[in-house]
Amino acid sequence: MLNNKIAQAALIDVLNSNPFAGRDLFWEQHRFARDGYLKINHLMDPLVRDHVSEDVKYLLANYSKRRDFLIESTGNTPRHLSNVPQDKIEKYGAFIPVAYSSRYLMGLVESIVREEVIATPWKWDNYIINCQHKSGDTHGWHWGDYPYTIIWIVEAPEIEAGGLLECVPHTHWDKKNPRIENLLIDNKIESYFHLTGDVYLLKADTTLHRVKPITENVTRIILNTTWERARDINRVVEHETFVFRD
Ligand SMILES: [Fe+2]
Repeated sequence: MLNNKIAQAALIDVLNSNPFAGRDLFWEQHRFARDGYLKINHLMDPLVRDHVSEDVKYLLANYSKRRDFLIESTGNTPRHLSNVPQDKIEKYGAFIPVAYSSRYLMGLVESIVREEVIATPWKWDNYIINCQHKSGDTHGWHWGDYPYTIIWIVEAPEIEAGGLLECVPHTHWDKKNPRIENLLIDNKIESYFHLTGDVYLLKADTTLHRVKPITENVTRIILNTTWERARDINRVVEHETFVFRD
């Protein structure tokens, strides 16, 4: 019990801290601006990562729902996955809601993107858990409505089983005419493999991306946490892709 209390206190200390302020992150900033993607394992406190992972597994086991559909505003790309939407995480999550609004995570994002961030004003985009678990499951090509996303890889399949992240940075989402196939033939696709426990930052609004279909009945679990630019607090955002709310 005592050890548990000490661990809790240590975790709260981490969440209230901002060890990134004033740190030289020149290369992280440069690579993120260049690629729209940056692995941040080396910056993430393992205590935070492990608590996120534990919370995700509990929420997925108890509150997930299967989704199978095509999204028109991303050129009818498919979604075949299970997820836990924001409201369930906010209500039943033991750790994720606290971590999401912590000085620690917002400070981490701000130190790399070099501007102030806020919680996404559209609450459904704050955080979401996604899980592919049947052969053929995929999160098809899309962009995010908001700029800065940390993806936490809670469980990753072997490389042979599919589920790679594919990215095309520096692309613009025209919601009326997404032209995804045209963008794919006109640009190089970057592919990223992840291990369980990896954490990365994605420039989601200008990086066309997808999770390639898994090719076996394996499990791939992520938590998506997303922030908006503070200066865009009053920006109008439409949410055509967001059909995960029931
Ligand atoms: Fe995404």
